[in-house]
Amino acid sequence: MKYVQIIFSPTGGTEKVSNAIAKSWPSVDTIDLSVPGKNDPIMVFQPEDVALIAMPSFGGLAPQIALERLGEIKGNGAKCILAAVYGNRAYEDTLVQMEDAAEKCGFRIIAAISAIAEHSIMHQYAAGRPDRADCVQLAGFAEQINKKLQSGDLKKPALPGNRPYKKAGSVPLVPKAGPACTECGLCAKQCPTQAIDPTNPRTTDAKKCISCMRCVSICPVNARKVNAVMVSAAALAIKKACSEHKENELFI
Ligand SMILES: Cc1cc2nc3c(=O)[nH]c(=O)nc-3n(C[C@H](O)[C@H](O)[C@H](O)COP(=O)(O)O)c2cc1C
Repeated sequence: MKYVQIIFSPTGGTEKVSNAIAKSWPSVDTIDLSVPGKNDPIMVFQPEDVALIAMPSFGGLAPQIALERLGEIKGNGAKCILAAVYGNRAYEDTLVQMEDAAEKCGFRIIAAISAIAEHSIMHQYAAGRPDRADCVQLAGFAEQINKKLQSGDLKKPALPGNRPYKKAGSVPLVPKAGPACTECGLCAKQCPTQAIDPTNPRTTDAKKCISCMRCVSICPVNARKVNAVMVSAAALAIKKACSEHKENELFI
């Protein structure tokens, strides 16, 4: 029997949430969906295994690339917990999309969580979350899930969201390398969609970029930035929706 976290976390917020949930498990393997071709040895599950699938919400939906990579995994009836992580605006259809994708892979969903993490573009929203109180709450959710696992109850909870899913919008925020760029190539290596040319890391393919902000967050010299005026305008547009303190939720 194995416990595995399957995570897509470009800037680390989703990973923090996932770690807070998985902390009570005895030993946990990790499948990182953020980088292509990294996880081949543990792609096949058995019915006794437990998987935690964690993804951020981008525009109220799960990132397409994460769903595609999840689709390569064979669930084989393993128990599964979903975690949709969002930046305090809304997660809309993220959980139902994850539900459909996980079931298509053969997982059995026994619980789901929505959790807040600092907004990876507009850092003023949910700044510092998940914080200590969130981690305590997420650990409490994990306890409830562990009890359900021990009881053998495999009932799937009802999850919020709509089918058909909302239409995906595009985020016109492609990070650019500034003069500080040393062309070290780390961003190209770590880009989830391989949108950055490894031979010339100053060049980004705007069609491939999903604005996930990984390159901005990992650049060792802070050379990569998005257009500050556009970020300010976007932040203003969602200010009302993001201002109240939202709570993590457990569906069990
Ligand atoms: C392109 C993009 C779109 C996002 N859309 C939403 C959204 O619709 N609602 C929301 O609350 N947060 C949104 N966020 C914030 C992320 O869901 C949140 O910061 C998440 O923790 C990022 O995960 P990561 O830190 O693992 O990369 C968005 C972030 C990005 C980069």
